[in-house]
Amino acid sequence: MERDAASSTDIRDGHAFRIDGDAITLVFAQQGSVVPALIHAGAALPAAEDLGALARAVQPPRHASQPEIAPLASLWPQSGRGYMGQPALIARRGDKALPMDLVPDAGSTVGPRGFHLVFTDPVAGISIAIDWQISSGDVIRARSTITNHGTTPLAVDRIASLCLPLPAWATHATRFHGRWAAEMQEGTAAIPHGRSGGASRGGRPGFDGGNWLILHDAGFSADQGHGLALHLAWSGDHDSLIERDADGAIVQIGPRLDPGEIVLAPGGRFVTPDAVLALGLAGRNAVRRAFHAHLRRDVLPDRANWPARRVHLNSWEAVAFGMDEDRLVQLARAGQAIGIERFVVDDGWFAGRRDDRTSLGDWVPDAQRFPAGLDRLIATVAGLGMDFGLWVEPEMISPDSALYRAQPDWCLHRAGLDRPTQRHQLVLDLARPEVSAHLFGVLDRLLTAHAIAYLKWDHNRELFPNDGVGHAQAQAHHALIDRLRLAHPNVEIESCASGGGRIDHAMLSRCHRVWPSDNNDAIDRLRINRAWSLFLPPEVLGNHVGPCPNPITGRALPMAFRAKVAMFGHMGVEADPGAMAEAERHTLAAHIACYKQYRGLLHSGVQRELAFADAGLFGTMVADDTNALALVARTDLSGDYNARAVRFPGLVPDAFYEIGFPLADSAAGLALSGRMLADAGLVLPLSRPATAHLIAFTRQDHR
Ligand code: DGJ
Repeated sequence: MERDAASSTDIRDGHAFRIDGDAITLVFAQQGSVVPALIHAGAALPAAEDLGALARAVQPPRHASQPEIAPLASLWPQSGRGYMGQPALIARRGDKALPMDLVPDAGSTVGPRGFHLVFTDPVAGISIAIDWQISSGDVIRARSTITNHGTTPLAVDRIASLCLPLPAWATHATRFHGRWAAEMQEGTAAIPHGRSGGASRGGRPGFDGGNWLILHDAGFSADQGHGLALHLAWSGDHDSLIERDADGAIVQIGPRLDPGEIVLAPGGRFVTPDAVLALGLAGRNAVRRAFHAHLRRDVLPDRANWPARRVHLNSWEAVAFGMDEDRLVQLARAGQAIGIERFVVDDGWFAGRRDDRTSLGDWVPDAQRFPAGLDRLIATVAGLGMDFGLWVEPEMISPDSALYRAQPDWCLHRAGLDRPTQRHQLVLDLARPEVSAHLFGVLDRLLTAHAIAYLKWDHNRELFPNDGVGHAQAQAHHALIDRLRLAHPNVEIESCASGGGRIDHAMLSRCHRVWPSDNNDAIDRLRINRAWSLFLPPEVLGNHVGPCPNPITGRALPMAFRAKVAMFGHMGVEADPGAMAEAERHTLAAHIACYKQYRGLLHSGVQRELAFADAGLFGTMVADDTNALALVARTDLSGDYNARAVRFPGLVPDAFYEIGFPLADSAAGLALSGRMLADAGLVLPLSRPATAHLIAFTRQDHR
């Protein structure tokens, strides 16, 4: 975390302080608590605002059931002074949990956009630093650091990255749940009394998106309401907790640790993963805008210099394990004919892999399927004008593999017990230096020997047995990718975990895209992508046209619908164009050409979701200063004959926009003001399910 110029601050005197983003102000003060609390989060306050007066104005009166100095929720809840909620830290020396009573220490600093607060408990022998920093998009990154100043080892069993007493308006929570092929299902409810929250245990964030949540007011919708969106930037396990009692509510988020997983030697310290926090003052689209801006400017590797996102053809849903060089060449040729730019060979290319029961760990081309190795195929693909991508799942090992026979103890296991598999595979113990070194060697050789532009990095099982190794495993995994990226900086990487099982800012700071779901059904994808797009911009969301009927849902949808949905992400195809009817192939090729025309806009503009009272409609729109492209899709039959006019907010109110329908035969022949489009909108023919429209807006005074 880069800190801004800060001045030294003595927080012991209890004065209130502020940090400011471009359009927001956060104010903090001690309110009975030793550690400050967030007492205001909102639009930018005047520079002259009297923070002491603000603190007095919002100070809740002490009530009879509290200690004389009311220990309110703060940025670091602790139990030593009578706070009865969940403490931010649980630590032990030996078997005994340490009672803790932190007091402010010297060395705290507060700058215009961030702070570094230091607290110590001289009796327990620990200090805690809390760092918050506002970065691009007015998104805040927060972390905590614990240092062991004692003379004996200190076990850290629980530590929050961020604790946030909630503003009074944050009465509701939007959280996510899900499963394979149905990631990121949204659920919104009033925050209940007591505890709610979630944790992952599989050594990755998981399909249910518990590492993302939004706390908001009751009226929070596409463009209205206040919301605090929260994410843990960590690829291992997370723990989130919302606690509400008679005094108010607090949210905490941090890594989930097993007891004894983190033990600090005397002098040792542990830094939590970052929590990422965005304050949206105009609904879901404000949160979306903040997260997208932050990811684009501060998280994605070298985002400013990315070339256009190439259209992928991925072999998985086209041929699965039924591949050899000839079949893949045939597929690549069919891809070239429709405008594919990158050919990705998915699972099935390496020694002996005929199904999902064998060979993980043996990362050399299968000699029968590729008698000339990979290079002849790569050269053919290059000759067709495409670059080449390859699937790997480096962290895994099949019990039926040459690697396992050579190194049976490299997997996570309990000595003397059987080794339970998932998808017939085990997990390598990456925290062992020789295992990580081996994997680096294998991948480095692969990337050095072949012209590979992109790796699809998969992860298809949970981490178990997980005897307190999850954190170290995630760290070793990051270190492996970092080392590989240093050696091969031009290779793009996708994070996939049976779909969206490992999507987080720690991966996104190392990767170029994620695979949001194995489910390519366009109706399901509209919903899954709407949820992911609250946090992630279109250019990182792999979005493919799959086969028809869809192999997961069995649904048959028209190509024009599937292809329009796929355009609003990083577009690809995961089906055999050669097996499609001529008319379908033609439609797909036209949509790919259209995506190429609009991807500059789609991958840099501001995205918003469109609001509908009709649950069978989905809409999204991406706009820059001069152009916008919207997608409006109907998934279910409406109770009304005609859809109401669709409104398109966010354009410049007094500018006029020419309206077009790319790929449709008809042109609208209309030019309307941004205000008119936002307030009155357009009526579109949207009566049939599986109908989608692309609507282009071109600003007239900019042509
Ligand atoms: C799971 C991924 O999500 C799929 O896209 C595919 O790569 C398979 N693994 C291959 O085993």
